[in-house]
Amino acid sequence: MIKILIVDDEHQLVEAFNRKLSKEGMDVSIAMTGKDAMHSIKKESYDIGLFDIKLPDIDGVELLRRMKQLQPTAEVIMLTGNASVDTAIQSMKLGAYDYLTKPCKLAELHAVILKAYEKKRLKEKNILLEEQLQRVEVHDRLVGTGDKIREVKNFISLVSNSKAPVLILGETGTGKELVSRAIHASSPRSQNPFVAINSSCLQDTILESELFGYKKGAFTGAQTDKVGLLQIADGGTFFVDEVADMSPAIQAKLLRVLETSTFRRLGDTREIEVDVRFVFATNKNLEEEMEKNRFRKDLFYRLNTFTITLPPLKERVEDIPALAEYFMEKHSRGGKRKTISNEAMRILTSYHWPGNVRELSNVLERAVLISGERQEIIADDLPKNMIAVPQTMAFRDEGTIDRGDLSLKSMERHHISKVLELVNGNKSKAARLLGISRKKLYQKLGEL
Ligand SMILES: Nc1ncnc2c1ncn2[C@@H]1O[C@H](COP(=O)(O)OP(=O)(O)OP(=O)(O)O)[C@@H](O)[C@H]1O
Ligand SMILES: [Mg+2]
Repeated sequence: MIKILIVDDEHQLVEAFNRKLSKEGMDVSIAMTGKDAMHSIKKESYDIGLFDIKLPDIDGVELLRRMKQLQPTAEVIMLTGNASVDTAIQSMKLGAYDYLTKPCKLAELHAVILKAYEKKRLKEKNILLEEQLQRVEVHDRLVGTGDKIREVKNFISLVSNSKAPVLILGETGTGKELVSRAIHASSPRSQNPFVAINSSCLQDTILESELFGYKKGAFTGAQTDKVGLLQIADGGTFFVDEVADMSPAIQAKLLRVLETSTFRRLGDTREIEVDVRFVFATNKNLEEEMEKNRFRKDLFYRLNTFTITLPPLKERVEDIPALAEYFMEKHSRGGKRKTISNEAMRILTSYHWPGNVRELSNVLERAVLISGERQEIIADDLPKNMIAVPQTMAFRDEGTIDRGDLSLKSMERHHISKVLELVNGNKSKAARLLGISRKKLYQKLGEL
């Protein structure tokens, strides 16, 4: 419901406005003097102000100035007699949305209010979108051509046209947020907001007011109405990150929104209807979470229809060269494009990547920096621990070890030959990676 404050001392006119706008379903408040108006705007929040320029006590332009200070997203329309058109133009410069010359047609008034309200809503959405743009690089896209990522892309195009809720599973850094943005961007909702909420570090009460908003006076400290994120996401996509970290109580409330497309602000009895597409994500194992009663089964079954599990990076090694190139370009910030030595690429493709794509991105950002003027990224530009995690390397391709021979000797032989392969047979480098002296390495090679 649009909330309007009309400030004018012409009784009949105000009454006519009030009748018309109330009939159109708007919530109208009236003040006859500047002083009353000041009092109201300190106390309540409005979507639209309709201010006469000539008030008995203060100047309407002054009132506009105060309104813009106290309620910056509200839009103000000025009312003026013919004589004060200059002042009206001046008030536009001060941020008024428009001005109407009295006597104005009620239909015209109504139309201008609707337009001003639309602008206000866009402004609120934009504030949110801008915040998000600052967090996420604009050029992010889903890189990779292997079978696994192709499946992910197919999934995205499959679900993007529907409004059905989606659940994205996957280890940390596998691209869950990126995929959810891609779903939004390729959906018919792409022009409307993408709103994300991450519950991890929020208390239930704070989370609830963020999600649903509240009515002024709903609790001590609720001094103005607050619009919840769900309402801001209206028409768009709502991304619930780390859903398994939300309390079961909040999960139940979200399930209800999912089923009914309505919710109530805290302290409000009115149901608000929203058209929102939900995307949920978690890196937890939901079966385990359900067993421990930390994730609600009813929510799980509701989400289970469109679920995708993003593969860990080590299971899509084929995409690593393309990803590496993409991140090098991204982190070079317009500088000349670097290349990666064969040895460094071998390390990148055989590492086990516990932090997945995010870790790859970080590693390359660091490498680009460390390599300085050098055009080629070499093994030395990579973090030492990537090279010196021998066991994981040996265990990674467990399948190639003779399962009949799991002795330490055999593991050692396998591992040393792997490392030698990695450094193209260079024994000094191999010894350094293995953390032993060259002499010791020769000795071992003799023994094995
Ligand atoms: N296929 C991909 N192509 C390009 N960049 C990717 C790809 N997958 C992930 N990324 C990048 O990797 C980083 C981590 O991705 P994202 O934040 O989506 O992961 P996440 O699964 O949400 O992780 P977490 O569980 O830790 O929140 C981001 O910078 C993202 O842009
Ligand atoms: Mg994430």
